[in-house]
Amino acid sequence: MARVNDPIIINGIRIKNRLTMAPTVKFDYAGEDGQLTLRHLVHYLEREEGGIGLICVEATAVTPEGRFAKNHLGLWENAQIEGHKRINETCHMNDVVALIQLNHTGITGNPIFGTPMGPSSIPTRDGKMSKEMSIDEIHAMQESFISAAVRAKEAGYAGIQLHGCHGYLINQFISPKTNLRTDEYGENKALFGKEIIQGIREKCGKDFIISVRTPGAEPDVEHAVDVAKEYVEAGCDYLQISHGIDSFSIKLKDENEPYSDLCALGVNFHKVFGACKKPGTEEPVRIPISCVGGLLTPERVQYIIENDMADTVDLARGILADPQFPNAILNGTPFTKCYECQRCQYGPGTAHNCPAEIKRKK
Ligand SMILES: Cc1cc2nc3c(=O)[nH]c(=O)nc-3n(C[C@H](O)[C@H](O)[C@H](O)COP(=O)(O)O)c2cc1C
Repeated sequence: MARVNDPIIINGIRIKNRLTMAPTVKFDYAGEDGQLTLRHLVHYLEREEGGIGLICVEATAVTPEGRFAKNHLGLWENAQIEGHKRINETCHMNDVVALIQLNHTGITGNPIFGTPMGPSSIPTRDGKMSKEMSIDEIHAMQESFISAAVRAKEAGYAGIQLHGCHGYLINQFISPKTNLRTDEYGENKALFGKEIIQGIREKCGKDFIISVRTPGAEPDVEHAVDVAKEYVEAGCDYLQISHGIDSFSIKLKDENEPYSDLCALGVNFHKVFGACKKPGTEEPVRIPISCVGGLLTPERVQYIIENDMADTVDLARGILADPQFPNAILNGTPFTKCYECQRCQYGPGTAHNCPAEIKRKK
């Protein structure tokens, strides 16, 4: 039986326990130039000191147009590398492995940055139509992801996570709702992400962790598994399972199980995914799979790991509410529980009004 305190090796890199911090964007921490700020450094340092094994730094834009808003972290130019080196210095000091999530909003893009583009022309959030990307634009976008990964490596990250879920660009390519193309990127819905993975592997080398956060069902479990297999065969080392565009209608959970429907997507994926042939391996291997969603008490997290329902667990609101939540899971120390009020998700203003944080700091 695995324990939450057990280390795990991902692509040759040792992570000291099974707890990972899920990417969670800090809505107005970044400068308008996409630069990391002192507030980010303090935020991540507090969490590094709380016992977590791996931190995946929040969704970071690979082009200025791919941002959620103006104050959104970026890694689209070399001037942005320096700030990220600071996070990596403190992570190394605290024996925490750091990845960074790379993202582009695609069709869901903020109209202040111009007409959003994506795999197909689809209604956008302001009721207009997105632009269908040409083949040249697809290749340029893939290059933006690859260049951002190269910058991440230079900043000292152990690897990157591609944001392949939650309805953003890489997810848009795998969903039949948003990818209506009839060319090779429509016929093989995993191709866009797969070529990014291959490009990153080529430029960042074999020891760099390439992970993908991908839906546990899109539009169903079978297709999501097929896409993830293609990612692994292209060189992905680690899968974090979350929701996609069409995952919400799929209920995989026995109602008595002590975890959420979202978490069930990851638990099910871990059960059905099996072994795949990675580049450079003779035999098919099992790659680590993480789940997320409502894991807000030590007991729930321990239940998942001890019953072999996932290899690692992603903590989001629990570790936002209290950076010491991982130590509570690992060592039984006290912590302040997330109130599940969702204020942290509302963006600037309310995002910094977490009642658990207020209680902790009194
Ligand atoms: C404030 C906030 C910011 C988030 N930002 C991101 C993000 O940058 N990238 C991402 O993939 N998911 C993001 N998420 C989703 C979380 O990573 C996680 O999947 C979700 O909150 C469910 O986990 P939880 O129940 O432990 O909170 C965010 C969630 C919250 C609450």
